[in-house]
Amino acid sequence: MASSASSKPARVSVKTTLPARPLPPNSSRLAATSDRLLIRALVPEDLQSLHVLRTQPEVMATTPQLRVDNSLEETKPWLDRFLPPNDEATFHFAICVKETGEMIGIGGCHGFTSIFGWPVIGYMFRKEFWGQGVATEFLHTWLGMWCKLPREEVEIDVDPRTVSDGDGLVPEQVTALTILDNVGSQRVLEKCGFENFATWLEPDLRNPEVDVLILGFRHSPSKESEI
Ligand SMILES: CC(C)(COP(=O)(O)OP(=O)(O)OC[C@H]1O[C@@H](n2cnc3c(N)ncnc32)[C@H](O)[C@@H]1OP(=O)(O)O)[C@@H](O)C(=O)NCCC(=O)NCCS
Repeated sequence: MASSASSKPARVSVKTTLPARPLPPNSSRLAATSDRLLIRALVPEDLQSLHVLRTQPEVMATTPQLRVDNSLEETKPWLDRFLPPNDEATFHFAICVKETGEMIGIGGCHGFTSIFGWPVIGYMFRKEFWGQGVATEFLHTWLGMWCKLPREEVEIDVDPRTVSDGDGLVPEQVTALTILDNVGSQRVLEKCGFENFATWLEPDLRNPEVDVLILGFRHSPSKESEI
């Protein structure tokens, strides 16, 4: 159930586990498969496919950029975020059709510290593939990959609303953000075990005169439930 929240939450220090960093480099990451998908490490040659994805207005409408990329040069930094040396702290993948290898999306963890202090995930798919359960299939598979990473104990500062009891080793979490309109993404998160634990208003980038509701989601994935 959502509770009202501010976008600059307080912090509480907790002991937890997280995937050990540096993460395994892209070059050593094994591809994973699901019924329909091949989920593999990103490579520099994915630039053109990522550009195709990022030039679909429907895809970009829910991103903070709001508009499509104007050139390959504009797309390149969005790929570089996940290529060496940035693969040490991100776990983001090319999402491809298993049968053909065609890249149709991108997704994973793009940062170890969200506004809630926990790792944060995101994903985007070409519009022709929406509404077929592909994002859910990806996220479910990705959570299994995330859980298999070696762990280390860490002490981090997190939003107190994400922890009921800060004593001992707190179960680690993964977080995500969506705008209210993005019902599809909310459903994907819910189907993969995420819960909406916070909502707050922010100026709508599409029209700063009005506010838009942002939904914060969290999930405590476990090896047992994700594989
Ligand atoms: C959001 C996105 C990832 C969803 O991908 P997808 O492959 O269509 O998702 P799935 O098919 O796995 O699941 C979508 C679910 O939402 C439901 N849904 C989608 N739009 C809906 C709407 N407007 N109202 C109600 N339900 C909706 C679908 O019916 C489905 O639920 P179901 O399986 O219970 O029927 C895709 O639309 C996308 O790439 N959007 C652009 C980028 C983006 O918004 N990324 C997420 C940022 S938070």
